[in-house]
Amino acid sequence: MEKTAVEKKENYQELDSVLEKYKGRAGVLIKALQEAQEIYGYLPRELLIHIAYELDVPLSEVYSVVSFYSLFKTQTSGRCHLEICSGTACYVKGMKNLLEYLEEDLSLKPGGVTEDGKFSVSTTNCVGACSAAPVVKIGDELYGEMTLERLQQLLEEHDHE
Ligand code: FES
Repeated sequence: MEKTAVEKKENYQELDSVLEKYKGRAGVLIKALQEAQEIYGYLPRELLIHIAYELDVPLSEVYSVVSFYSLFKTQTSGRCHLEICSGTACYVKGMKNLLEYLEEDLSLKPGGVTEDGKFSVSTTNCVGACSAAPVVKIGDELYGEMTLERLQQLLEEHDHE
């Protein structure tokens, strides 16, 4: 079962033994962040602060590394993660309606996860399929010409994951 944020806080011990081996060494931040993400599944803010403190690295440096490398996740995600393209073509073609639908129907906002942990959503820059706007991405799959009906269908199809 996935740990909750509260349990994670109490569980810094595991991380501390990882950080211990990196203390005082140069160029270890990425490795330490990778190991922290392996333990906790993602890197919430309080964890980044803890890592910066323990490794004596400016928090701004930790943030810039985390935001530069896409492998780092600062938020937990649902079992099915939807990325709604917010590039110009998708914006013009009504991606906002898709977001509104998710918010109304599932109380799901960008950056959020449904209570049951099934779905999460974020917006993304142009995914390169503008002619099929608006586009939703799930994993490596692109779903174009998305309507509210198709989105509803897509959610049903992924409901059992
Ligand atoms: S703007 Fe959405 S695919 Fe290009």
